[in-house]
Amino acid sequence: MEIIIRSVKHNDLDEIINIEKKCFSLPWLKNSFEKELLNQLAYYECAELNGKVIGYMGMWKVIDEGHITNVAVLPEYRNMGVASLLIEKMIQVCICSEINTMTLEVRESNKTAIKLYEKYGFEAVGIRPKYYQKPLENAVIMWKKIE
Ligand SMILES: CC(C)(COP(=O)(O)OP(=O)(O)OC[C@H]1O[C@@H](n2cnc3c(N)ncnc32)[C@H](O)[C@@H]1OP(=O)(O)O)[C@@H](O)C(=O)NCCC(=O)NCCS
Repeated sequence: MEIIIRSVKHNDLDEIINIEKKCFSLPWLKNSFEKELLNQLAYYECAELNGKVIGYMGMWKVIDEGHITNVAVLPEYRNMGVASLLIEKMIQVCICSEINTMTLEVRESNKTAIKLYEKYGFEAVGIRPKYYQKPLENAVIMWKKIE
């Protein structure tokens, strides 16, 4: 099984939207991704298996910080290391783009994602109360220093 990690292109967006719908209660719409692909400070990487997009990850460069916007993997391809490959690629992107720290928000109840981020050295540094809708929930703010 060969998973390829590569930049997201415009013609991947229908597959990315499908992943969004399967993974989030408030999925981003296609035009949000279209704007992201035009933003020079946004980085979008996807995981492809046998020609199919099975996961993706996004990040914004804000001065010297990398703000992760989303990470999602299709349910039937989870626990196979796909998100790990995406994060490892994004860490390389940071190293090449003079980004010194990475940060993200994650639902307090999303233990799977929190474990994934901790595996890569992210640490919880605070809470944004009632940050998420549907259902209403606090966000944990996490940071990681790029070594
Ligand atoms: C979170 C998510 C992206 C993980 O994707 P994945 O490809 O299954 O993750 P990986 O297989 O690379 O696993 C990486 C690590 O995550 C943790 N992890 C993954 N699945 C887990 C589970 N079911 N229970 C506990 N920890 C888990 C483990 O630490 C794992 O590392 P290990 O295999 O060395 O133990 C995926 O579950 C997903 O798309 N969830 C829905 C969307 C979402 O919540 N995104 C995050 C928003 S902030």
